Amino acid sequence: MSFDSCAEALLSDDICVLPTETVYGLACSALSTKAISQVFLLKGRPSCNPLIVHVLNHDSAKEFCFTNDLSKKLCEKFWPGPLTLVLPKKNCIPNEITAGLNSVAVRAPAHPIFRKILNSVKLPIAAPSANPSNKLSPTKYQDVLDAFGEKCPPIIDGGQCKLGIESTVLDLTSDKPCILRAGPITKREIGAVLNIEIVDNSAALITSKEPSRKSPGQGIKHYAPNTPLYLHSTVESMISSKIISKNDVLILPRDKINIRQIKNNICLLSISSSDNYHDTARNLYGVLRKADKLNKEKIHISLYSSINDSFTAINDRLTRASTKRI
Ligand code: TXA
Ligand code: MG
Repeated sequence: MSFDSCAEALLSDDICVLPTETVYGLACSALSTKAISQVFLLKGRPSCNPLIVHVLNHDSAKEFCFTNDLSKKLCEKFWPGPLTLVLPKKNCIPNEITAGLNSVAVRAPAHPIFRKILNSVKLPIAAPSANPSNKLSPTKYQDVLDAFGEKCPPIIDGGQCKLGIESTVLDLTSDKPCILRAGPITKREIGAVLNIEIVDNSAALITSKEPSRKSPGQGIKHYAPNTPLYLHSTVESMISSKIISKNDVLILPRDKINIRQIKNNICLLSISSSDNYHDTARNLYGVLRKADKLNKEKIHISLYSSINDSFTAINDRLTRASTKRI
């Protein structure tokens, strides 16, 4: 779709798909309840799961939420980029966006196409990841088409998303800043800017049986392929696991791994050619998609032993996607 027709769609309370540096987003005017309801309907997203509002910068965020010194410092360092801030909302943001919460999540995306659209339409843009609820987030144009088929709204192709996993969500409405969803910006990086204690609730939110009042969207299962995903605690225990059968596919963290212990006829994929975090994050959903398309009985994958805290977000997504922990 052309840039102009996409801008036109947003200005006419319609929806379209835009690339961001994290994942593709299903975009609509954050001020249009009609367009917002189309987004929830198309995604099959429960109305209790609030949307992120995308803006150009900290000054534009001030129109929609009450910013503070902490948000200012963080935005100076990380915006535009993959950090979403939860702040007290202003009345102009419809309750449908925030699922009735009195906070709103805001983020300034870095992708040049998304920024050009924001500049052109001069609207705040709500954009959840452009996938049916609970499924894998799209990191390429074709992923979005495959996910929505005939119902797919117009998409602007921005190539493969550079980062490949969703933004870090940080709540700034409590006494201490609290991570609700792990992402490309780590707890350590946030702590280094603010110089105060940062709480990380993202892992607790995965295992919690109750929907969290603070982040109702962080349910147990998420980002999941259709094939059952078996998550092993280490790559070594996965390779020697007895439960892997010839009808399964096994995903290795990188291609140069000694796989002598694996039976000959097992289908193998690998996420990256190195241990580099950026390559791993960028390829993660793509390789899960590829494994899913093989229509095997089970997908096996393993957690990363945290060499550094960048991998926390990758382990978080694997945990949410998994059917079973081994
Ligand atoms: O990287 C990203 O964040 C992508 C791109 C498109 O920007 N968007 C994305 O949106 O991942 P979505 O809707 O898939 O995830 C938004 C997350 C959800 O977990 C939701 O619960 C949380 O942000 N969230 C939104 N508003 C919130 C609020 N007011 N309080 C707490 N959590 C909120
Ligand atoms: Mg999502």
